Amino acid sequence: MIAIGERARRAVCGRLFAASYEWLLRGSERAGMADRRRDLLTRARGATVEIGAGTGLNMSFYPDAVTELVLTEPSPYMERRLRARAAQREPSARVVEAAGEDLPFPDASFDTVVATLVLCTVVDPAKTLSEIARILRPDGQLLFLEHVRSSDPRLAAQQDRWHQLWLLFGHGCHCNRDTERAIATGHFTIERITCGQMPKAPRIVRPLIAGVARPRLGAGTGRSAHSGAECLPT
Ligand SMILES: C[S@@+](CC[C@H](N)C(=O)[O-])C[C@H]1O[C@@H](n2cnc3c(N)ncnc32)[C@H](O)[C@@H]1O
Repeated sequence: MIAIGERARRAVCGRLFAASYEWLLRGSERAGMADRRRDLLTRARGATVEIGAGTGLNMSFYPDAVTELVLTEPSPYMERRLRARAAQREPSARVVEAAGEDLPFPDASFDTVVATLVLCTVVDPAKTLSEIARILRPDGQLLFLEHVRSSDPRLAAQQDRWHQLWLLFGHGCHCNRDTERAIATGHFTIERITCGQMPKAPRIVRPLIAGVARPRLGAGTGRSAHSGAECLPT
C-alpha cells in the first residue's frame, strides 16, 4: 500500500515537473542560459549523445558538425515532450529511454557527450561519469554546463541547509554537488572550464560551470585528482 502511494506520488511529481520545466526556466533561459547552451554546443561534433535531455532545450543549438544525435532521458514524462520536439528536428534525432548510470551503448561509440543541468540530478554521478567515459572514443569530449556547489563557504552552507527542500522542489536536483570535482575524479581531465552564474535563478542554484573534459586514458575508479584547471570568470 505504501509502495503504491509512493509510486503514485512520484508519477504526479514527474508529470508536474515535466509540464512546468520550461516555464520554471524561462526567465533564466531568456536572461542568458540559452546563450550559454549555444556557446557550449558550438563545440559538439561527430556522433553525439546527450544525457538526461529533458524536454530538449539544447536541441536547436547542435551545429552541422554533429553527424548523429542521440538524446537519452529516463523520465517518461520528459521523454514524451522530447520525442515531440525531436520529431520536428531536421535531421532527426534518436530518443532513447535510459538513465545516465546505465547507458545502452557500446564502448567508445561517441565523439561527444553533452550533460547540461543533469549531473545535479542523476542518482549516482560517479557511475554516470564512468558510463560517459566508457562510451566516449579516446579522443572524445564531454561538454558540460552544470549548476554546482558554491566556492563561497557561506553560500555552500546555505546550499546544504536548503538541500532537502530543494530535492523535492527540483524533482531530485541536488543544489550542493561539487560537480567539477566529480568530473575530474578518476575518468576525466578538465581541458577548459568557465565559471558563472545562472541568471534569474534562486541563489542556491546560481553557481555555474561550463566546459570541456577529455577522457583520461587508463583512468579507473579509486583514483582521485582534482583538475586544477583555472576557472575563468565569464
Ligand atoms: C533539470 S533537468 C535538465 C534537462 C536538460 N538536460 C536541460 O538542460 O534542460 C534534469 C533531467 O535529468 C533527468 N534525470 C533524472 N535522473 C536521471 C538519471 N539518473 N540519468 C539521466 N538523467 C536523469 C531528468 O528526468 C531531467 O530530464
